[in-house]
Amino acid sequence: MNDLFDISGRVALVTGGSRGIGLMIARGFVEAGAKVYVSSRKASVCDEVAAELSAIGECISLPADLSTEAECRRLADEVIAREDGRLDILINNAGATWGTPLAEFDDAAWDRVLDLNVKGVFHLSRFLQPALAAAGTHEVPARIINIGSVDGLHVPSLETYSYSASKAAVHHMTRVLAAKFAPDHITVNAIAPGPFESKMMAATLDAFGEAIRAQVPMRRIGEPSDMAGAAIFLCSKAGSYVTGAVLPVDGGIIGTL
Ligand SMILES: NC(=O)c1ccc[n+]([C@@H]2O[C@H](COP(=O)([O-])OP(=O)(O)OC[C@H]3O[C@@H](n4cnc5c(N)ncnc54)[C@H](OP(=O)(O)O)[C@@H]3O)[C@@H](O)[C@H]2O)c1
Repeated sequence: MNDLFDISGRVALVTGGSRGIGLMIARGFVEAGAKVYVSSRKASVCDEVAAELSAIGECISLPADLSTEAECRRLADEVIAREDGRLDILINNAGATWGTPLAEFDDAAWDRVLDLNVKGVFHLSRFLQPALAAAGTHEVPARIINIGSVDGLHVPSLETYSYSASKAAVHHMTRVLAAKFAPDHITVNAIAPGPFESKMMAATLDAFGEAIRAQVPMRRIGEPSDMAGAAIFLCSKAGSYVTGAVLPVDGGIIGTL
């Protein structure tokens, strides 16, 4: 039992690890003894986070704009070069949203969201698949976690058409890649968060925070330990036999529908 949730010594890449849910996972992993690469567009923020988390353990900043295939390739190549072709854990967390009334919901509102939330997840996973396969074994598979959303599982109240479609796509791509990568000893799962405090959620929580809390069966917003704990479960020995799953971490929003 002692090592059931142990991820010490594992090497992880957390996209969007500079703030919000990505930072919750990156911090939890560093505190649990993993070596963590954090990536997002803003180099200065990644550097600050890496410096702060390096006081606890090992954290390295690798900035990239994951909305383009070329940048996904560059980031994957950089990790592969630094880690001698091996990577234990990929957390595809970087994501963007867009809310606009239907009449104004133009192509830009689709491209900005799908390029990062769907295509970015796909390209980074395929470019890192050889490194994950090199690290994974029958007993200890490598892991991919894609961060989806409860908005990809139910009908959201806000007008975020491309976002909810992108998250449903992430959930299904998780199942498809889980089947494809299982022979390589790589598990692929998704976490579907409910409401967590972050920059993306700040305006929504400011405007509707009380109503949102009232709608969550557990009557609270998610805490960093809720997110880090779910990710550590899926990446540890405890989660070795789970693949193709979409795990809601949402205080009961989906489970009690
Ligand atoms: N918070 C919630 O309640 C909630 C609920 C359900 C699902 N989610 C999902 O959780 C994930 C994290 O969201 P969050 O709420 O933590 O949002 P957030 O605070 O806005 O964080 C988004 C992260 O992604 C990075 N990012 C944005 N565009 C990028 C790009 N083109 N390339 C690389 N990195 C990029 C951001 O850093 P830079 O700006 O420096 O690039 C930041 O680190 C998303 O996939 C989101 O859909 C969140």
